[in-house]
Amino acid sequence: MHALLVIAHPDPKSLSHGIAARIAEGVALSGAGNSTEIGDLAAEGFDPSFGLADIAVHRREAPPPAEIVAEQARIDRADALVLVYPVYWWSMPGLLKGWIDRVFANGWAYEAGPDGKVVKKLRHLKVHLVGIGGADARTYARHGYFEAMKTQIDHGIFDYCGACVVTSELLLDSDSQDPGLHLEAARAIGRNLFDAATHCEATAA
Ligand SMILES: Cc1cc2nc3c(=O)[nH]c(=O)nc-3n(C[C@H](O)[C@H](O)[C@H](O)COP(=O)(O)O)c2cc1C
Repeated sequence: MHALLVIAHPDPKSLSHGIAARIAEGVALSGAGNSTEIGDLAAEGFDPSFGLADIAVHRREAPPPAEIVAEQARIDRADALVLVYPVYWWSMPGLLKGWIDRVFANGWAYEAGPDGKVVKKLRHLKVHLVGIGGADARTYARHGYFEAMKTQIDHGIFDYCGACVVTSELLLDSDSQDPGLHLEAARAIGRNLFDAATHCEATAA
């Protein structure tokens, strides 16, 4: 089994990168032959701005640019897609949002028909979300941010395309919490990545 870990953080020494590395370690421990590829969007210089070429793809007037086809191909090669990102303004960083805007394009991730019906094209894709936030769980609960993020990201993006969000974790208190606890949790996420996700089977049907 193969996982694509997409990380959106500019600093390779950050906790977010440490967490991605631990998830990869966990995957390697989860079974002989299990592998990961790291998509480090900042280091790779991914351009998150949705431009004219992307609008043409969205309107089905042109095929996707080569760099977008390459991103779609590495998702297609993976059994699981893991997004690792710091929470910025109760959402994902612009770099990752732009990656989704451009890569999860009309025609590849979903297909909007002339009758207004949407065909979900990523029913085979298993997704794991790992957000790292500085605020504490009480703050998230008090303001409804847990629910808001789930609605917007898990449901609004991935369910729209038919992908199954197998796990959705927020590792909080990142500035004051012992980082060792988050790193341990990350390793466990990696170890369990390919475990049976029965609730996904109905989605995939
Ligand atoms: C621009 C910006 C916005 C942020 N917004 C939030 C936020 O909305 N909620 C939150 O819990 N933490 C927020 N934080 C804190 C980061 O999530 C936290 O510092 C980060 O996850 C720490 O991990 P790192 O070492 O990988 O950067 C924000 C940080 C920055 C730089």
